[in-house]
Amino acid sequence: MNPVPPPENGRPRPKGEALAVLKVLAHAGADHTPALLTSREVGERIGVSQQAADRYLVALEKRGLIARSLAQRRQRIQLLPPAMEVLRSEYHTYRRIFEGPARLRFTGKVTSGLGEGRYYLSQPGYVVQFTERLGYTPYPGTLNVRLSGEALRKAGVVGDWSGIRIDGFQASGRTFGGATCFAARMNGRACHLIHPDRTHYKDVVEFVAADCLRETLHLKDGDTVSLELTES
Ligand code: CDP
Repeated sequence: MNPVPPPENGRPRPKGEALAVLKVLAHAGADHTPALLTSREVGERIGVSQQAADRYLVALEKRGLIARSLAQRRQRIQLLPPAMEVLRSEYHTYRRIFEGPARLRFTGKVTSGLGEGRYYLSQPGYVVQFTERLGYTPYPGTLNVRLSGEALRKAGVVGDWSGIRIDGFQASGRTFGGATCFAARMNGRACHLIHPDRTHYKDVVEFVAADCLRETLHLKDGDTVSLELTES
């Protein structure tokens, strides 16, 4: 965990018709090839007037979700990467509704960190939240696990999950950053993966648990652990 404020409000979240415009554009393949459409055509596809469609397109462009240029009498409209993130998050919501909570399984190697976990996990501002939101008071520290290859890619998927929020706060004149926790099992033992809003690690994930996992699971640096994450 890192004493830096969380990033600005995350990704943009267009709602209703603006989101419907993004779906129309994605359906037309505008994530890889610009779609050639008039505002009227966009309006027809989502059931609003040409003027309304035009307003949505202007707003989406201002928010950096689409890029537009004129091509004869049509517009050339391209979806930008943040728009695909918005749609992916929408997709995950539906996947969760129709397929239930996702489960990820991978392995990693126990490693030591910079010794900061104990300090952060001892802060009353965190302890109170962990106790309330995770349902237990965590052992003061985080167990670090180094991931590589496929495991690293799989663990990255939790970025699309909602997780359990731990809010940042101010104490003793400094700022402590927020984090998101995800229910996990390490060698079958219940714990949570904790993903700080700001982290210096790229290939290391951190876990909190009610107990000292090194003791309970007889772990030392370099040991391989099997991990399972469940979407809440
Ligand atoms: O030095 P490092 O950042 O890895 O550790 P820490 O976060 O200060 O935690 C202190 C020690 O407890 C480390 O050896 C962690 O691996 C271990 N730990 C554990 O075994 N189980 C936990 N639930 C939390 C930390």
